[in-house]
Amino acid sequence: MIISSSTDYREAARRRLPPFLFHYIDGGANAERTLGKNVEDLSDLALRQRVLKSVGSVDISTSFFDEKVSMPVALAPVGLTGMYARRGEVQAARAAAKKGIPLTLSTVSVCPIEEVQAAVDRPIWFQLYVLRDRGFMKNALERAWAAGIRKLVFTVDMPVPGSRYRDAHSGMSGPNAPLRRMIQAVMHPTWAFDVGLFGRPHDLGNVSAYRQQKTNLADYVGWLGQNFDPSIGWQDLEWIRDFWKGPMIIKGILDPDDARDAVRFGADGIVVSNHGGRQLDGVLSSAKALPAIADAVKGDLTILADSGIRSGLDVVRMLAQGADGVMIGRAFVYALAAAGAAGVENLLDLFAKEMQVAMTLTGARSIAEISADSLVKAVAAA
Ligand code: FNR
Ligand code: LAC
Repeated sequence: MIISSSTDYREAARRRLPPFLFHYIDGGANAERTLGKNVEDLSDLALRQRVLKSVGSVDISTSFFDEKVSMPVALAPVGLTGMYARRGEVQAARAAAKKGIPLTLSTVSVCPIEEVQAAVDRPIWFQLYVLRDRGFMKNALERAWAAGIRKLVFTVDMPVPGSRYRDAHSGMSGPNAPLRRMIQAVMHPTWAFDVGLFGRPHDLGNVSAYRQQKTNLADYVGWLGQNFDPSIGWQDLEWIRDFWKGPMIIKGILDPDDARDAVRFGADGIVVSNHGGRQLDGVLSSAKALPAIADAVKGDLTILADSGIRSGLDVVRMLAQGADGVMIGRAFVYALAAAGAAGVENLLDLFAKEMQVAMTLTGARSIAEISADSLVKAVAAA
């Protein structure tokens, strides 16, 4: 199959993965309205073509949190990545490091922190949730720090898991889920050998290390359900801010007032995000939420944004809406599932090329030159 974009990787991932995994990645909450709007609202932003601006060569490198990056992109934290490709977090970290950007390791990764960090020279980032088990949180922070990780992404938009209708239909959860997953695995032998057989252990690596006993996929769904803590407030995060000596980035901000609270709290960064449309269906897309947030806090902290980014053009659009950088989720996961580390490397090359074309034709020589002027304003009103 010919691959020229993240859309192609999505199709390739669909063929390779058992449906319960493909739909877990691909799906969102409820009617998936926000999931759809994340992509549509972003691609509806009209780039402003400018010509004969003597652009010459374009530099897409930049830095955030004092870290140099080859482009303003980080790989988003994605749970169970080691189920989509063999030791998937390690493969993704290698691809990201090779291409000069960070990977954010999810709390609920298959590969534990130490395995992933040991595979690459570049420090990865670590993502943590607010969980009932504070002992687990402290243990995870200590282990991340000991491994050399300095950037903490703290995800706050999951006080409860969203309603993912697809999961019940696909066999991720619901009646006879283990049997259905087994049948699906048998019918996808390439995946079954590569990941199902040779990609073991299929643990939640970080949780198993803490509990000192193996966990499995059944634990995953149950553990997520039981461990999120809806009673949490900003004051409960203070010990983490004081405990963690590196930059702390709050992920899951969608409102200017919450962004201001993050500044007051002393966060170093935020990720404007609706969790890829997987939490509260019906909330604003990230692309639409971003400008008001940037108006409120730009300059006070670093603004990253995610949800709906499928190409280098989308990266430029998010920056034009006020972000300093972006995270990509599904786009890299599809590439990883389809073709492992090589797929992620190729996807990042495609993004880089797409950014270069977009910047050349909007007259921006550097990341700093991307601004609200890179978009056509009147179109939205027309
Ligand atoms: C996620 N996301 C997520 N976020 C997080 O903070 N911790 C996690 O463990 C996960 N797990 C996860 C699993 C899967 C399968 C997906 C698709 C997403 C959300 C992720 O970090 C990011 O916010 C979204 O994926 C961004 O939207 P796009 O780029 O996928 O549209
Ligand atoms: C999800 C969790 C794991 O979005 O963040 O599925």
